[in-house]
Amino acid sequence: MSAVFITGTGTDVGKTFVAAGLIRCFRALRQPVNALKPLVSGFDPAAPSGSDPAVLLEALGREVKPEELHLISPWRFRAPLSPDMAARVEDRAIDFASVVDFCRAAIAENSGTLLIEGIGGIMVPLDKCHTVLDLMVALRLPLILVAGSYVGTLSHVLCAKDVIMRHGLDLCAIVVSETENAPVSFEATLATLANFTNAPVLGLRRQAPGAQNDAVFQHLAELIG
Ligand SMILES: Nc1ncnc2c1ncn2[C@@H]1O[C@H](COP(=O)(O)OP(=O)(O)OP(=O)(O)O)[C@@H](O)[C@H]1O
Ligand SMILES: [Mg+2]
Repeated sequence: MSAVFITGTGTDVGKTFVAAGLIRCFRALRQPVNALKPLVSGFDPAAPSGSDPAVLLEALGREVKPEELHLISPWRFRAPLSPDMAARVEDRAIDFASVVDFCRAAIAENSGTLLIEGIGGIMVPLDKCHTVLDLMVALRLPLILVAGSYVGTLSHVLCAKDVIMRHGLDLCAIVVSETENAPVSFEATLATLANFTNAPVLGLRRQAPGAQNDAVFQHLAELIG
C-alpha cells in the first residue's frame, strides 16, 4: 500500500504523462494501481477526451464516463486557469479542507499504489490562502517532482526542490520529461540537476529508442513501490 503525489514545476510539464506511464507499468506488472486528479481546470464536460482525468482513466482501463470522471476528479472547472481563478469564473470556491479530506479518504481506502496528480506547479493557488504546496504539506505523501527540459528549468526545479525540502517533505524522484524542441542538452540538464540533489533524477525522452522510457517507468515504480 503506497500513495504518491505527482507534482510539477509548472503546468504542461508532463505530470499526467508520468502518471499514465506509471499506471501502465504497474498494470503490466499486474500490481494494483489507482489514480486521482482531484482538481482539474480547462475541463469541457462535453468533450472530456484528452483531459487529464480521461487520460488517467484510459490508462487505468476504465471507461471515460461522467461517474468515473467524478470519482477521480470531483473538482472540475471549465476555464483553463489556475484552480482559484477557474472556480471564481463559475462563482464557485474550492473548499481546501474538503480536498484534503477527499485525498485522505482515498489514501485510507487504497489497497495498491495510489497516484495523486496535483494541478499546475507547486505554488498554484487553490483559494485565497492555500496553494498546492499546502495540499502537499497536509497529505505528507512522498513526492515525484516533474519538470520540463526547456531552458530555465534548472532554476524552476531547484526552487521547487528547495521549497519541498524546507517543508520536510519526502522527494522520492525528480523526473525531467523532455520538452519538445528544447535547444539544450537533455543529458546535461539531468547531470546538472543531479549535482544539486540527493533525489534520483530520471529522464523521459520524447521519442525514446526501444523500451528506454519503459525502463525509466519501471525504475520509478520501484522507487515508489
Ligand atoms: N516525455 C514525453 N514524451 C512525449 N510526450 C510528452 C512527454 N512529456 C509530456 N508529453 C506531452 O506533453 C503534453 C503535456 O504533458 P502533460 O499533460 O503530462 O503535462 P501536465 O504537467 O500534466 O499538465 P497539466 O498542468 O495540464 O496537468 C501532453 O500532450 C503529453 O503527452
Ligand atoms: Mg496533467
